[in-house]
Amino acid sequence: MKHSLLFLIAASLAACSASPASRDGISDPGQLLFNGYVRGTVDCYRCHGGDASGTWKGPGLKGLSPNKVRHAIRSGPGLMPSFDEEDLSERELEKIVTWLGTLR
Ligand code: HEC
Repeated sequence: MKHSLLFLIAASLAACSASPASRDGISDPGQLLFNGYVRGTVDCYRCHGGDASGTWKGPGLKGLSPNKVRHAIRSGPGLMPSFDEEDLSERELEKIVTWLGTLR
């Protein structure tokens, strides 16, 4: 009993880390980028979740200052990969910054 409960928790965590938000449910260009729908290599959702609420692989991203977001994307803190201008142009980066800024 205890083990199957643990398994369920582990399975749902794994599922939530791997799945982007549904394509149809997104209109914000920043969230589209975040979910890998614009560039396959931009896969923020894998660690932060399709709605940026966080997974076991990465923290939730609500309420951060725009500069903190910019810096994290370019520098890749801790276990996060960094994204340079080839991965994510300045314009694309700003779209993500803008979208995250709408999350409260
Ligand atoms: C492989 C997993 C992974 C991917 C992919 C990833 N991140 Fe992260 N991210 C992390 C982890 C882990 C941290 C926490 C790093 C630390 O402080 O040790 C983090 C931290 C951050 C922070 C800073 C959070 C804070 O509270 O200071 C921001 C902002 C962020 N990520 C945005 C993004 C964006 C935007 C993308 C896509 C362009 C992305 N991340 C892709 C794992 C990831």
